[in-house]
Amino acid sequence: MEQEQVIDATENFVRQTLLGEESGHDWYHIERVTTTAKKLAAEEGANLFIVTLAALLHDLADDKVVDSEDEGLRNIQNWLLDHQVNQEDQEHILMIILHMSFKGGNGKSLETIEGQVVQDADRLDAIGAVGIARCFTYAGKKGQPIYEPDLAVRQEMSVSEYRHGRSSAIHHFYEKLLKLKELMNTRSGYRMAEKRHQLMELYLDAFFEEIGELERGR
Ligand code: ADP
Ligand code: NI
Repeated sequence: MEQEQVIDATENFVRQTLLGEESGHDWYHIERVTTTAKKLAAEEGANLFIVTLAALLHDLADDKVVDSEDEGLRNIQNWLLDHQVNQEDQEHILMIILHMSFKGGNGKSLETIEGQVVQDADRLDAIGAVGIARCFTYAGKKGQPIYEPDLAVRQEMSVSEYRHGRSSAIHHFYEKLLKLKELMNTRSGYRMAEKRHQLMELYLDAFFEEIGELERGR
């Protein structure tokens, strides 16, 4: 099968699977990540076929989307097998997805430029204007407040506090979103992250100014 055909078929398959997905991994997240990943791939000289397939498939093994990660990975592997993707490419794509589905990236950085590019693209979708929107959508779905002044914003929350839902959308910026810029793998990713990061800083300043908690802002 031509690479172009495999990509088209995969795009249709993922679109069908994730339309209406409600955990923040809907088709439009995948579409944005794929577009960004292709752009980064061109800038970084990464293999476009691997990057595109990995980006399209990257959330199909997430246990928020499928019953189990193993089942998700098996489905992806079968999909690639059915579409005659060669063994080496299959393994590469699966490695990227497996690595990305570990929360926090398993502490290790992705070794190939293709993996680095897809991870950067996924992280870029969590910051900036889109990232802010996703954060509030996610918090709303979990029943978390916009912001709870009593919680120490700048402090890392303990795991038990977090488990008990004592978090808020604004806390998530400090827990994760503001850290992502420094975690970018590639120069091109970092450059894109800088602008989005700045927007979040401006947003938080404005938020704290409006609620009269200037000392908490930056
Ligand atoms: P992905 O798997 O695409 O990297 P996640 O599953 O970690 O993303 O999260 C999906 C979206 O929801 C992201 O934009 C993320 O920032 C946001 N999110 C995740 N956890 C929280 C939280 N506790 N509060 C607010 N937003 C969150
Ligand atoms: Ni994702």
